[in-house]
Amino acid sequence: MSESAVTLSFWENDVAVLSIDLPGKGANVLSTAVLDELAGHLDALEKRSDLAGLVIRSGKPGTFLAGADLREFVSSLGAAKDVIAAMCRRGQTLFQRLSRCPFVTVAAIDGVCLGGGAELAMWCDRRVMATSPKTQFGLPEVKLGLFPGWGGTARLPRIAGLGNAVEMITGGESIAADAAMALGLADDVTSAEKLDAAALAVVRDEQQTRKYVEDRRRWSGPISISETELAFLGATASGFIQQQTKGHYPAPLAALEVLLEGAAMDADAACEAEAAGMAELFGSPVNAALLNVFFLADRNKKDTGVANDVVPREVKHVGVIGAGIMGSGIAAACVRRELPTTITDAAAEALARSTKLVLEEVSYNKLTKATDVQRTLKFAPLLNATTSDVELAAADVVIEAVVENASVKRQVFGRIEGKMRDDAILASNTSTIPIAKLAEGLKRPELFCGIHFFNPVRKMPLVEVIRGPKTSDATIATAVALAKRIGKSPIVVNDGPGFLVNRLLLPYMNEAVELLLDGAKVEHIEKSAKSFGMPMGPLTLFDVVGLDTAVNAGLVMHEAFPERTVVSSVLPTLMKAGRLGQKSLAGFFRYKHATARGERDEEFDRLIGPLLREPKKLSRDDLTNRLFLPMVLEATRILEENIVRDVRDVDLGLIYGIGFPPFKGGLLFWADTLGAAKIVEMLQPLSSLGERMQPTAMLLEMAKSGKRFYDR
Ligand code: NAI
Repeated sequence: MSESAVTLSFWENDVAVLSIDLPGKGANVLSTAVLDELAGHLDALEKRSDLAGLVIRSGKPGTFLAGADLREFVSSLGAAKDVIAAMCRRGQTLFQRLSRCPFVTVAAIDGVCLGGGAELAMWCDRRVMATSPKTQFGLPEVKLGLFPGWGGTARLPRIAGLGNAVEMITGGESIAADAAMALGLADDVTSAEKLDAAALAVVRDEQQTRKYVEDRRRWSGPISISETELAFLGATASGFIQQQTKGHYPAPLAALEVLLEGAAMDADAACEAEAAGMAELFGSPVNAALLNVFFLADRNKKDTGVANDVVPREVKHVGVIGAGIMGSGIAAACVRRELPTTITDAAAEALARSTKLVLEEVSYNKLTKATDVQRTLKFAPLLNATTSDVELAAADVVIEAVVENASVKRQVFGRIEGKMRDDAILASNTSTIPIAKLAEGLKRPELFCGIHFFNPVRKMPLVEVIRGPKTSDATIATAVALAKRIGKSPIVVNDGPGFLVNRLLLPYMNEAVELLLDGAKVEHIEKSAKSFGMPMGPLTLFDVVGLDTAVNAGLVMHEAFPERTVVSSVLPTLMKAGRLGQKSLAGFFRYKHATARGERDEEFDRLIGPLLREPKKLSRDDLTNRLFLPMVLEATRILEENIVRDVRDVDLGLIYGIGFPPFKGGLLFWADTLGAAKIVEMLQPLSSLGERMQPTAMLLEMAKSGKRFYDR
């Protein structure tokens, strides 16, 4: 028999304790086996009349319960509705027993308490929480396209109030111990060391006062709220949700519906309604896609970037050359994670500007939404802005972020490499220049790689770690560990034009220009991308990136793949008229100021008019297919060339790098939902557009065999 995850012990003769500790796992999750164990213990404990209380705690310090076992969810994706409803009912019935025991039940929470874990804790009569920053209480199910299904939607509004429950469940954000206390979700908060004592004190207190008996009665009935209040809450919350989800994520609205419906019922009936609602949501395409994204992110967190167990070098000091937009962002990311950073620039004024920017960024306090002097005092000593190469070269990793020009970059390397320690790593933030080309002439190419951040560094989680032909595993592992240390999600890619994300992005952006030339309206192009779920339209993206930068990147792609990269005069025409995008307040759109929304203007139409071809009849599907299918085709080439180590890297890269819609699960996950044969069929009417719309050998082979990308 396998080792048990739940152990029964007694703190005192009349106080039972169930400790949850999944053997060999870093976190506790509620698998069917764990729920069965819990049920077994309750069977015995419920019969005892000599107990004053039961405490449920975790045997893993700093983590209570991370939630349900999502791998079991994935294996149930195709299950029938009644099976899903029964799954919910089983969990609900088990947890409800915690609120019916002949003694008080108390959850002692230290660390994450999420999803199913939070539901278990809520069905206890009382909760005590540790105040450590690791304690997070929340119901994040909507982020997986679901809502709580083990009684969370019935129990939370009864304890914390309907409005609070709506906010927590439809938003999916977690709260800390103090906030839980304010909502009545925690009955006491204390340090992790004193948590057990606090739980015991609650048992003894309740044994005396028996207040929990009254709460059991109250929380089993309907919620007292007037019709008017209910209608107002429903209208405001649904308006807000629609605005946030843009209709792409059905779970928050479904959760709202169940919460409002359940309010008038007793808790049992509300649980039944919850199970019925979950049966509708579970297994939906959005649910499957979001579960996939969860596993993509989870895989990325565990990925060391290398196949073997190479130990990354310790990085205690980072150097950044080039104090422009990117260099400043990289330095700020390092300093914020308390990593001493030296930054330099050829231009003194750039260095001065950057120092100010970095300090402003790291001093910003998200909670107060203002500069925090304490933060400035803490972080300022970690930043060294200097013109001394010697100070810079003392770093363990030096990241170059000077202008995008191979010969300038090579000169910088030539100047710095000789001064660096023999084992220190040199990296480039280049967005387009092949790493192989930059490595030419280096003395230690094995210690060189690309570490490509995305703009703005503060916001974008993705970092491409690019392996050059001679880059060592230790260099890659160190770059990956460094990126993670500063809060980023690194993906290791092999060298190649545009690396991963820009290579996939350019065919999409180019096609938007081609659509324009074929007579599609600007707003239709933008709308079709946004309806697909992209955070902005491709023409707006041109303006954000800068038309000059886009032209440079386009040239790299054209040089590499002339047969399928179309060149048009749209970008040069706009640039000649001084329209470089947002930075010049005009590009495809015109901007009143740098952060304003783009507006259409006549000059644009006048400039573009003469370039337009004979207009084609283009349906909405034509637009979507022309924008997104070339991305899929390019991804097949990327896989054929082994640019990535796994198809999942393509999907996470696009979600984190350009905001590809998570509700589609990733580019190739989405492609799998269509199937290769269908994609080939969709490409057929586009064949007159030439090479860029031709199915690749890989796609044709997959269409024949029925294989999916995720089977690879
Ligand atoms: P930027 O023009 O804002 O900054 C470049 C800085 O390098 C300037 O301050 C300049 O004075 C300095 N510099 C030039 N030559 C130098 C030298 N020999 N020694 C020391 N400093 C020197 O450029 P940005 O946008 O920060 O780009 C830097 C690098 O990052 C480029 O390789 C670019 O392709 C890449 N990148 C840019 C992204 C973007 O969206 N801007 C995104 C990802 C990568």
